[in-house]
Amino acid sequence: MYNKVIVFEGIDGSGKSYHLNAASKYLKKKKVKHIRLREPGGSKNSEHLRKMLLSNKSDFEKKTDLLIYLSARSENFYKIIKPNLKKKTILIDRFIDSTFAYQHYGFGIDKKIIKLLNKFILGNFKADFTFLHLVQKKKIGNKIKNKKNRYDKFNKNFYNKVQNGFLKLSNKKKNYLKIFSNDSKETNKKIIQNKLDSLIKIR
Ligand code: TYD
Repeated sequence: MYNKVIVFEGIDGSGKSYHLNAASKYLKKKKVKHIRLREPGGSKNSEHLRKMLLSNKSDFEKKTDLLIYLSARSENFYKIIKPNLKKKTILIDRFIDSTFAYQHYGFGIDKKIIKLLNKFILGNFKADFTFLHLVQKKKIGNKIKNKKNRYDKFNKNFYNKVQNGFLKLSNKKKNYLKIFSNDSKETNKKIIQNKLDSLIKIR
């Protein structure tokens, strides 16, 4: 059995958290030791940072935002990811791609800065595999209306840019699998489980 770092990415409302949850239940059933994390959030300090970032009242400048997301990542990396690498499988709800997709493709922050900061924190570390959850273009924005975090105010156009960013990041890469949220949850669960079986070598 292999211990892998597996990321669930996608825009808000794409179903990534649902499928991470289902994947975690599946691994539990198969007795695969694993940890689940979310970004921003995860470790105790990162959860503090999450509250700051996602509160309705927060009005950080976009560069400040970027630095807080990266601060949260740094806490997770040193306190949770690194000590458990190769010991347990790690499932992460959002990681580096979210920062490129939102802060660069969404908010226009220079890609080079994001790359440099990630390198500063993570060195050469890379996740093993990413499930990219995609929302049909005409449905983008529908589910977001019910959400309470401050991204509510961003429109369809913003989420379109972010999703296109995710697609560019995954383009021609082998360690990505696209999950289409207009397919049924059961179909997608099965697709994800099959992939987990082959990645982790679950019998
Ligand atoms: P998420 O955890 O998906 O929120 P929820 O639990 O309410 O579904 O996402 C939190 C928000 O943080 C999301 O709008 C995307 C944003 N985000 C960034 O902008 N950059 C990042 O690097 C990360 C990790 C998240």
